[in-house]
Amino acid sequence: AAVYGHGLKYERPPFTFQSNDWERLAQDQMSKNSLGYVCGSASTGETDRKNRAAFQKWSIVPRRLVKTTSYPSLESQCLGKKLPVPIAIAPVGVQRIFNPDGEVAAAAAAAEEKVPYIYSSAAATSIEEVSKANGDGTRWFQLYWPSNANNHITASLLKRAKDNGYTALFVTLDTYKLGWRPSDLDNAYNPFLRSDSIGAALGFTDPAFREQFKQKYGKEIEEDVKNAAKEWASTIFPEFSHGWEDLKFLREHWDGPIVLKGLQSVQDAKQAVELGMDGIVVSNHGGRQQDGGPASLDCLANIVDAVGTEIDVLFDSGVRCGSDIAKALALGAKNVLIGRPYVYGLALGGQDGVSHVLRSLLGDLTMTLHLAGIPSVKQMDLNRDSLQYTG
Ligand code: FNR
Repeated sequence: AAVYGHGLKYERPPFTFQSNDWERLAQDQMSKNSLGYVCGSASTGETDRKNRAAFQKWSIVPRRLVKTTSYPSLESQCLGKKLPVPIAIAPVGVQRIFNPDGEVAAAAAAAEEKVPYIYSSAAATSIEEVSKANGDGTRWFQLYWPSNANNHITASLLKRAKDNGYTALFVTLDTYKLGWRPSDLDNAYNPFLRSDSIGAALGFTDPAFREQFKQKYGKEIEEDVKNAAKEWASTIFPEFSHGWEDLKFLREHWDGPIVLKGLQSVQDAKQAVELGMDGIVVSNHGGRQQDGGPASLDCLANIVDAVGTEIDVLFDSGVRCGSDIAKALALGAKNVLIGRPYVYGLALGGQDGVSHVLRSLLGDLTMTLHLAGIPSVKQMDLNRDSLQYTG
């Protein structure tokens, strides 16, 4: 196998190492609907653009004559566990619209590259099947939180996640309704209403679940899938959002770490600490939910300063290359979630494509740290001295 330096061994890479080109290349592989769904963002895309622009305002200032005998270790600590890398696969719904193997391919690649996989509760593949594909990998469960009237569904999802080796719960708080997304509106597209994908988290695509269903109701699940799908879509995106007091229910039904995803305000972060949460993800959902908001990166430092010693602060939105990851770590993120880039990898090459994206980002991160004279990810953690603000 050819060796591309930095420990990357390939017969031939499945597509370019140019992370800037992945989105454009993936566009040729996707249907109009899938393309609009993944590339699209809220309204005019202001928040999405700000997410990217925010990284350019920070520069990593290199140090010289730092003696090293090896590449920087990427080992990190998050949610009470040692992780070999400081990144994770962000939860992304209905992955089978990007590649027929969908979540199975992405979860297998994540395990292979030792990157935690966050399962979306809007997945197109069941909790059980993804668990199998992920094997002994680290996997976390993201919840779109059904309304209080449907607490039995929440409890059932959490139990199945626990039984299948998902070790942390991520509760997404910015998506009680889907954002105003012109790309999907123009295409009249709602991926959650596809009968072959919706309800997967509930088990509709899991053979064991289907068998149980058949025995219980005396018919194949397909007959009911469309109606159930509609019901499920309205269940996970309820008319009214929850209040802080409702977190008690999740604590009672989940005995592992709980992480709130989608926070941007210092007050909310403090509230999360007060209510005994284990982590938060500073995120604006890749600019896909509320438009006209701040860049996710611009919210990170203040939140870390307010709660960083009490709770793990994770980060996502707009991360596209190794130095983006390094900057978020230096501002105090414990882990950085990768969103759209791995979806492009999935569209371009299934499992190999996701692996290639993860390896590229980690190779790029390794060399960024190495050439900046930073010996390890641990030493980049809250290393604001390495950054210069040039906004
Ligand atoms: C998402 N995201 C998301 N988040 C979540 O909590 N549950 C979900 O089901 C989804 N689904 C989803 C689908 C698609 C197509 C995208 C692009 C994103 C948000 C995701 O977890 C993450 O916050 C963003 O993707 C980060 O922004 P970037 O890196 O894509 O800019």
